[in-house]
Amino acid sequence: MTATIIDGAALARRIRAEVGARAAALRAASTQPGLAVILVGDDSASSVYVRNKVKDCEESGIRSVLERMPADTTQAALLARIDALNADPTIHGILVQLPLPRQIDERRVIEAIAPDKDVDGFHVANAGALMTGSPRFLPCTPYGVMKILEHAGVELAGAEAVVVGRSNIVGKPQAMLLLQRNATVTICHSRTRDLAAHCRRADVLVAAVGKARMITADMVKPGAVVIDVGMNRIPDGPNAGKLCGDVDFDGVLAVAGAITPVPGGVGPMTRAMLLVNTMEAAERAAARTAGR
Ligand code: GUN
Repeated sequence: MTATIIDGAALARRIRAEVGARAAALRAASTQPGLAVILVGDDSASSVYVRNKVKDCEESGIRSVLERMPADTTQAALLARIDALNADPTIHGILVQLPLPRQIDERRVIEAIAPDKDVDGFHVANAGALMTGSPRFLPCTPYGVMKILEHAGVELAGAEAVVVGRSNIVGKPQAMLLLQRNATVTICHSRTRDLAAHCRRADVLVAAVGKARMITADMVKPGAVVIDVGMNRIPDGPNAGKLCGDVDFDGVLAVAGAITPVPGGVGPMTRAMLLVNTMEAAERAAARTAGR
């Protein structure tokens, strides 16, 4: 068997075009959607991510404001900046790029963002809303994965779904979303005994561990749908430095039923869902203003 390769980049293009149309409609109704992105420090990977987010906004008709703050920014200074953006009616979404420098408490910062501007979906109010089944903003990566599964026509009700990774950003919300679609969900992590055995049961396997090519063909059930959230750099060998996922793509291609590539799978969808969340935030803000 050779797996179908799921084209996340093509799906993301379609979603960006839809966002573009929604942004134009909102502008015509006198609201310019706006996203503020804060980057503290000069981590090179974060700089690239942030630049891409700003570029996506420009192309979709969303105004974006990139705020760079120095690496030695104090927590108080960052919180003050967030307060100002919370109060700014032209800003509908606020994203603080993670990770943050050591002197700053990430949780404090996330909780300082107004929940109705938390387009990352990381605030405890939004995480709780997802947990209790009435989500407002979904974290972009798991949201993108659900769109991929929907687009690929994957039947989730009753399916065995295994999520490898338990981060607040991906693993936990991903598991919740799969559960909401009536999958039987297992979350695996670094202390899981016999990871391969769990993975082999999966009809849908989501790899979000951050370890290059750790999911190998022998860990995949024939015909399974494999979603690779990993974004790693190959450490050595002829392809050193190149981007690769958590899945050994070439090996798993021969076993799986469908698979997302890296790059070109989940990554573009994560970026697209940030635009969707920002549009939602702007549309809700406009509706609140109109209702006053
Ligand atoms: N760093 C890595 N991924 C993300 C993300 O989705 N949002 C934010 N804010 N920071 C990140």
